[in-house]
Amino acid sequence: EDRVVYHSMMDSSKHDYFEYFGRVHGILMYKDFVKYWDDVEAFEARPDDLVIVTYPKSGTTWVSEIVDLIYKEGDVEKCKRDVIFNRIPFLECRKEEMIYLCRNAKDVAVSYYYFFLMVTDHPNPGSFPEFVEKFMDGQVPYGSWYEHAKSWWELRKNPHVLFLFYENMKEDIRREVIKLIQFLGKEASEELVDKIVQHTSFQEMKNNPFTNYTTLPDEVMNQKISPFMRKGITGDWKNHFTVALNEKFDRHYEQQMKGSTLKLRTEI
Ligand code: A3P
Repeated sequence: EDRVVYHSMMDSSKHDYFEYFGRVHGILMYKDFVKYWDDVEAFEARPDDLVIVTYPKSGTTWVSEIVDLIYKEGDVEKCKRDVIFNRIPFLECRKEEMIYLCRNAKDVAVSYYYFFLMVTDHPNPGSFPEFVEKFMDGQVPYGSWYEHAKSWWELRKNPHVLFLFYENMKEDIRREVIKLIQFLGKEASEELVDKIVQHTSFQEMKNNPFTNYTTLPDEVMNQKISPFMRKGITGDWKNHFTVALNEKFDRHYEQQMKGSTLKLRTEI
């Protein structure tokens, strides 16, 4: 079995893991966000606003680019008016129309691990198995994946919520793009679907400075350690989890998700 050896280029000698974060409602959170959390909670959306909800590393950037293209009727140039995180700003709130994107927790953990390594404002995540323990315990920014996913899964039948899976998008992107277009009340013409599918492929988004985060300096996000558009596949967890860690994760998943019908989507 292949074992992968990791190291972090960040100096962790001076810092304790938890010193990097604050908490809101008991959940671990980036300190900067804690500072303006009252404002976040006070935000009131207009009725025609749309909120995209994801646990970190679940494909936020991907679904955001698709949604912006739908609003801009497939006009790729208009979607280059600014970088993705300014076009669809991060806002921690819930409102009228909501898209929830869910991704296999094991792949989220892998993607989050690399994110910890490449985004400077993170503590050293330690070895991958050490990080997975933190992830299972909800001791990462935005807290427990399990609570997050479970609570939104319960809302999946609400007509204002579109519940999507990253794995389904990988399996059949056309089908999922059509769902998104229809959810937003637009007509899913073949031309529009074609344009969106072509423009939001992993390769296109990896090469597009408006979506690949390369506008951020190395001091903030060091893509030499790991690119933001890293692999964009399902099942990369198999290259990172040992058999023992996987069994432990599965047992823990069963406990955490007791009473929920949400199962881990497997790789396509
Ligand atoms: P990996 O690290 O597994 O490659 P977020 O935008 O929520 O931070 O999620 C980032 C993850 O989504 C990364 O996963 C990234 O590669 C993947 N991703 C981004 N755009 C994608 C696309 N067009 N197709 C497939 N995966 C994509």
